[in-house]
Amino acid sequence: MNAEGRTKLNQTPEWTALAKHKEQLGEVRLRELFDTDPARGTVYTLRVGDLHIDYSKHLVTDETLALLRDLAAATDVFGLRDAMFRGEKINTTEDRAVLHTALRAPAGAVVEVDGEDVVPGVHAVLDKMSAFADRIRSGEWTGHTGKRIKNVVNVGIGGSDLGPAMAYEALRSFTDRGLTVRFVSNVDGADLHEAIRDLDAAETLFVIASKTFTTIETITNATSARNWLLTELQADESAVAKHFVALSTNTEKVADFGIDTANMFEFWDWVGGRYSYDSAIGLSLMIAIGPDRFREMLVGFHLVDEHFRTAPAEANVPLLLGLLGVWYGNFHDAQAHAVLPYSHYLSKFTAYLQQLDMESNGKSVDRDGERVQWQTGPVVWGTPGTNGQHAYYQLIHQGTKLIPADFIGFAKPVDDLRPGLVAQHDLLMANFFAQTQALAFGKTPDEVRAEGVPDELVPHKTFQGNHPTTTILATELTPSVLGQLIALYEHKVFVQGAIWNIDSFDQWGVELGKVLAKRVEPALTEGADVPGLDASTTALVARYRELRGR
Ligand code: F6P
Repeated sequence: MNAEGRTKLNQTPEWTALAKHKEQLGEVRLRELFDTDPARGTVYTLRVGDLHIDYSKHLVTDETLALLRDLAAATDVFGLRDAMFRGEKINTTEDRAVLHTALRAPAGAVVEVDGEDVVPGVHAVLDKMSAFADRIRSGEWTGHTGKRIKNVVNVGIGGSDLGPAMAYEALRSFTDRGLTVRFVSNVDGADLHEAIRDLDAAETLFVIASKTFTTIETITNATSARNWLLTELQADESAVAKHFVALSTNTEKVADFGIDTANMFEFWDWVGGRYSYDSAIGLSLMIAIGPDRFREMLVGFHLVDEHFRTAPAEANVPLLLGLLGVWYGNFHDAQAHAVLPYSHYLSKFTAYLQQLDMESNGKSVDRDGERVQWQTGPVVWGTPGTNGQHAYYQLIHQGTKLIPADFIGFAKPVDDLRPGLVAQHDLLMANFFAQTQALAFGKTPDEVRAEGVPDELVPHKTFQGNHPTTTILATELTPSVLGQLIALYEHKVFVQGAIWNIDSFDQWGVELGKVLAKRVEPALTEGADVPGLDASTTALVARYRELRGR
C-alpha cells in the first residue's frame, strides 16, 4: 500500500487472480484453443476505424481477458484516461498536462488546460503551417536569391525527428515528388554532410525542430547548416530568414539562434516530444504531403482517440493491446515485443515506436517514487517483413524466448505499379499470413516425420508454435490509417503505464548521459583533466586522443 492508500499492483487481488489463473491454465496450446472453438478466428477480433484487429492467436481464454480487464478496472486505467483527456496534469514529475489528443481535436471542441481552451491555438498553428506549406509547395516562397525551394531538410532528434521521418516514409506515395525531403538528427557530422552534399543551398529550406531549442545535437546541426548556407550563398545573416524556420515551444531561444520568430511554428509544454509529430513538429511532413493529407491524418488520430475515450472495455482496442502486453510481460516473463509491418513504407515505423514505448514506459520507479516490483516496458523492435524473415525470425520460431509480435498488413498496395513490374503484393501478404500461422500452430514431430524426414532431423525441423501474435489488417496505408495506427499505439502505451503506475510522460533517464557528455568533451578536445572521471573512461579517452594524433 502507498501513502495515498493505493494497493501496490502486485498485491491487488486482481493481480493474484491472474497469477493463479496462469498457473491453472498451465501450458495453453493454440492448436487446442482453435480446436475447441472453431469460431475463435472470427470471435476474437475487434474493429476500430479502418483497422481490423485479430487477437485470436494469443494465449488467452475468455477468462484470461476478463481477469485482465478486472486488473485494468482495479488500477483505474479509464480514470487516468479521463484525467488525461480533461487536461489534468497527469505528468506529475514535470507537473504537466498530457494533451496530444488536443492536437487532433476538431475545431470547436473544447479542451482546457489551467482553465484555458487550447483548441483555438492548435487550429491557429495548423492554419499557419498550412499557409506556409502551400507557399513552399506552390513556389511562392523563394529563397534568398529568388530561387524556388526544392529541398527541405528537417533538423531535429528524438520526437522532433522520428515521427516526421517515419510518417514521411510511410506516406511517400502521397508526397510531392518534386521536393527532396531529408531528415538530419545525429550529432555525427556525417548525417548533415550526406544530407546536404548534393543540394543547392539557394533552393534549400532548413526546418529546425526542437521542443526545447536547447538540444545539443539539433543546435549543433542547425549551426552547421546555417554556416554552410551562408558560405554557399556568400550572404550575410539576412539570408537566414528565407531558409530557416523553427518548430518549438521556446520563442526566446529561437530568436537567440537568429530565426525570425514570425517563421516559428509553436507548440506547447503539454505535448510530449514523442507525442508531437501531429503538432508543428510535423511541418516537414505537411510540406511533403500537403495540408489536406496532413489533416486527413489528424482525423485518423482523432477517430482512435474517440474510440479509446468511449468504447467499453470489451471492445476497446488500445486497452486490449495494452492488457495483452501486461499478460506476457508480467505473467509469462516476456522481455521483448516485436512490431513487424508488412509494408516497406513502414520501414521506420518500429524505430518510431521504440521511442514512443521505451522512452514512455522504460521506468523502474512508480508514481510514488518507489521501486516497482514488477516488469515494466518491453524491448520493442522489428523491421518490415519479409526482410526480417531472412534474418531474425528463426529466433522467434525456434529460439528459447517468448516474443509476442504485432503483424501489420494492408489489403492493397498504395501505388499503382509501373509498367513491367510484377504484381507482388499477394506474395508479400501470403508471407504475412503464413508467418502468424506458423508461429501459432508450428509443426509437430509427427507432421515432420510424415514428410519422410529422418529421425535425427525431426527435432530440428519441429516448430513448437504457440508464439502469440496480433494481426492488424487495413485496406491500405492512407494518411488517416497512419494516424489511426499511431494513436492506437500511443494509447496502448498509456494503458500499460497506467497499470504499472509509472509516469509514462517524463524521460529523466536520458539526462545523465547528456550531462556526462558535456563534462567529458573538454577531455577529448583539450586533454583537460576531468575531475571524478573513472579509470576505464580515463584510459579510453587517452587512447582516443592518441588515435586522433593529439
Ligand atoms: O533526450 C530525449 C528528448 O528529450 C526526447 O524526449 C525528445 O523527443 C528529444 O530529446 C528532442 O528534444 P527537443 O525536441 O527538445 O530537441
